[in-house]
Amino acid sequence: MAAALEDRRAYDIAEHARRHARVARLMPAAEWDVHYELVGAIEALKRERNAVVLAHNYQRPEIFHGVADFVGDSLELARKAAQSEADVIVMCGVRFMAETAKLLSPQRTVLLPDLEAGCSLADSITPGDVRALRRGHPGVPVVCYVNTSAAVKNECDACCTSSNAQLVVESFGVPEVILVPDEYLAAHVASRTHVRVIPWGGHCEVHERFTGAEVREFRESARAYVLAHPECPRDVQEAADFVGSTSGMIAALEQAQPERAVLITECSMADNIAGAFPGTDFLRPCNLCPHMQRITLAGVRASLEHLAPAIEVPEEIAAGARRAVQRMLDASRPRGT
Ligand code: 13P
Ligand code: SF4
Repeated sequence: MAAALEDRRAYDIAEHARRHARVARLMPAAEWDVHYELVGAIEALKRERNAVVLAHNYQRPEIFHGVADFVGDSLELARKAAQSEADVIVMCGVRFMAETAKLLSPQRTVLLPDLEAGCSLADSITPGDVRALRRGHPGVPVVCYVNTSAAVKNECDACCTSSNAQLVVESFGVPEVILVPDEYLAAHVASRTHVRVIPWGGHCEVHERFTGAEVREFRESARAYVLAHPECPRDVQEAADFVGSTSGMIAALEQAQPERAVLITECSMADNIAGAFPGTDFLRPCNLCPHMQRITLAGVRASLEHLAPAIEVPEEIAAGARRAVQRMLDASRPRGT
């Protein structure tokens, strides 16, 4: 415990101020200071437990900039989980992300601070639905979005994320592929490939609320550069300047360096990245993901204290689900690895 107290002192006022600089455009110092005690306690527990915190781009700023060791989109978090040498992985994200981490790092303890952090896309399809689709399309490969349960992944040939869906679909070298469960991601891929994409009717409850009219208004009246996630409806994607994953949006902003931008996605994302783009004004339509919002600093601390709730994937589905995730990682391996 003495070591832990020592470590806690290492998170001092100077380090607290350094972390605040990344969110100073949005969060006054007084608001950031509210988090000082919890962030210090989490830093101490991380060292004590040999734990690493992975945070999705939609996490609250105090998690994203306060305690995360790695941040990224779903694909980047899966890769980090596979490479991690920590004893404990705390997934600040939603359940399918924690399950993916457990599939790729079965020997580690994977914590999800709130087990209720689900996903409307993952809830939109069951293993039985995938089996029925296969019966309806014999011999056609099934690709599932990473936003699915491990039980659904177990029924699929490969998994994909929003940043590699087209690549994975084309990796089969066949004329048609089933892509579940997001109807709009399937339409996005279909618009870019010669492969016939057979969709499912699932939607993200956050992204489906955006409309094409709203996006045209941002472009035309506010003259903003519009970046949309492929989980948005078709007319939203068509009205955007760029469509891609959450990390794809960051890369597109780095390239375009626009004076004014709007991210048509979960709204914590703009809060998290605004500090890295001082020359860009971010307009803020605010659709929050209620599942991502369930993860709080207090929850992260409690999960590290109690090493719970820990994610387990039953062995009878883990091997098949792992194969699907691994096929995705193999198809989209970064160059040179
Ligand atoms: P990304 O893979 O683009 O981060 O998306 C995950 C997600 O859940 C979007 O709603
Ligand atoms: Fe699921 Fe949508 Fe939330 Fe992403 S934003 S975790 S797709 S409900």
